[in-house]
Order: sequence, then structure tokens, then C-alpha cells
Amino acid sequence: MSKKLVAIVASYRREGIIHQAVHRILRQVKESGHEVEIELIDLLDRQIEFCTNCRLCTQSPGEKPGSCVVRDDMAGIIEAIESADYLVLGSPVNCFNVTALFRRFMERLICYSFWPWGKMSPRLRSKRKNKRALLVSSSAMPGLLQPFFTGAPRALKSTARLLGARPVAVLCFGGIAIREKGFLPSGFQDRIKRSVEKLLA
Ligand SMILES: Cc1cc2nc3c(=O)[nH]c(=O)nc-3n(C[C@H](O)[C@H](O)[C@H](O)COP(=O)(O)O)c2cc1C
Repeated sequence: MSKKLVAIVASYRREGIIHQAVHRILRQVKESGHEVEIELIDLLDRQIEFCTNCRLCTQSPGEKPGSCVVRDDMAGIIEAIESADYLVLGSPVNCFNVTALFRRFMERLICYSFWPWGKMSPRLRSKRKNKRALLVSSSAMPGLLQPFFTGAPRALKSTARLLGARPVAVLCFGGIAIREKGFLPSGFQDRIKRSVEKLLA
């Protein structure tokens, strides 16, 4: 049976490193021989309003994400995520964390929590992790330093878990912001190939 992959990209540059990396990941998935339906969601093209912190989406119990009162593209994005077996989440590191574009999306995922009035803190609606996730970040600093000096890998991981996915590979690309039109060195291809193998394993 065919599986589904949803890739969510939160970069401001359509031809930037994150787009290049995600496109290479998707090409690798296509060439893997696995039957995988692919949907690419570029957050730059979607209308995503700020979370209003009204918490209405967190009030009713149940495993399904709560329904948000804000009418924009989030409902469609959540529907796509719910139908996925694999997730790819990608964001550049800006100001030591994921982009504001990713953060805005992330805040709206509070609907994955049950948090009725009277309770101190939210509880995940479901602890099941029946999806697998590949996470991608890019930075000016060397990739190895990202987990120590930025919150981006952690933000991507916690988002994946919130969405019911187990992060199986994290690609932190670094040292790639030197030229105006940065390109992903072909040397990264091996890491991409290994990560895709882990994702589809
Ligand atoms: C506003 C801004 C903030 C940035 N902050 C950081 C940072 O805190 N640490 C870092 O290593 N790189 C930082 N960078 C560099 C970006 O991470 C790098 O240009 C980006 O990963 C490239 O991704 P893209 O090609 O998909 O746009 C910043 C860039 C901008 C424009």
C-alpha cells in the first residue's frame, strides 16, 4: 500500500538551502523505489494567522486535534499531516532558533493538546508515534554547533513529536551562508541519502 510523505518548509528564500535540501530529499525518496505519495507544503505560500491564545481548540477531550476558530489554511495543513506516514520539517536558523514563519505554524499546533480551563498545563492528546520524521535546519554557524547554540533542532524535534512522529534523522547543514546565492554542496548528498534510508526503513 502506498505511503504518504508531507514536507513542511519554513524558509523565506525559495531557492535557498532549505528548499534545495528538501527537494533533494524528495528526489531521493522518489528514487528509492518505495511507493510514496509526496505533498510539499511551503508555509510561505499559505495563509497562517497568529494563534490568538483563546485555547478553544484545547477544551474538548479526544485524540483528534481540536478545531481552531481561526479560518485560514491551517485546517488543510493539519488534514495533510494527519494523513501522512512520514514528515519532513525544514527551517533555517534565524536569531538562534527556527524562523518566525515556522514558529507561527508551531504555535497553532496547540490543537494537538488537551488543556481545559482549570488545568495548569497542556497534555498531549495522543502519545502514539506512528509517523517518522526527518528534520532539516540550516545556519551560518557550523551544523555541529546548532544543537548547542540554537534552539532550532529542539524546536523541530518537539514539533515532530507533537504531530505524532518519531524523529529518525536530523540534518543540520551549516557554514553555508557565505555567498548570496548559497548552494548545498554535493558532499551533503551522502548524508541526505542515509537520512532518507532511515526515514523509509
Ligand atoms: C535575520 C537572520 C538571522 C539569522 N540568524 C542566524 C543565527 O542565529 N545563527 C546562524 O548560524 N545563522 C543565522 N542566520 C543565517 C541563516 O541561518 C542562513 O542564511 C540560512 O540558514 C539560509 O537558509 P535559506 O537558504 O533556506 O534561506 C541568520 C540569517 C538572517 C537573515
